[in-house]
Amino acid sequence: MKSLIVFFSHRGENYSVGYIKEGNVEHIAKVIKELTNADIYELVPEVPYSENYRECVKQSVKEMQENSRPMFKNPLPNLDGYDLIYLCYPNWCGSFPRIVATFLEKYDFHNKIIKPLCSHEGSGLARSVDEIKSLTAAEVKPGLAIKGTEAHTSDDKIREWISK
Ligand SMILES: Cc1cc2nc3c(=O)[nH]c(=O)nc-3n(C[C@H](O)[C@H](O)[C@H](O)COP(=O)(O)O)c2cc1C
Repeated sequence: MKSLIVFFSHRGENYSVGYIKEGNVEHIAKVIKELTNADIYELVPEVPYSENYRECVKQSVKEMQENSRPMFKNPLPNLDGYDLIYLCYPNWCGSFPRIVATFLEKYDFHNKIIKPLCSHEGSGLARSVDEIKSLTAAEVKPGLAIKGTEAHTSDDKIREWISK
């Protein structure tokens, strides 16, 4: 089974952790990479989100209200050859940032499995798993929620989730 890790992560000022050069999800995605040796792909927004936390929350609220579909740079041509996608994202306003919705709608997920991983600061996976199910035809496996403040101490949890 060939796997791909797809992640979006916000570097800069973040909730509870101050200014970080490596995003929490970015760190977790790299742990999954180490554990699985899967290919890895980052969703990089064409228009960057603000590094300032409050400004970024404002942008997030606006994109949620508008249900917008911000585009990412260097899109993959397709997901051919991959059976399993580890989809890794931060919880933004109760689900994933809209750039992840752009990704989910752009590709064909028939006969693919998605394992969702959400980093958060209290809300867990929230609406995100239901939303993945509503936007794709993928088989969606149980998700894993990891607090951003625990991103660097959760390797065992991640390993166990991967093995399920
Ligand atoms: C714009 C924005 C909105 C957020 N909304 C939520 C939220 O609704 N619930 C929650 O638990 N955490 C929320 N957070 C916290 C992030 O989910 C958490 O810090 C996560 O670990 C960030 O991962 P990253 O560094 O990879 O972006 C929010 C953070 C940002 C920047």
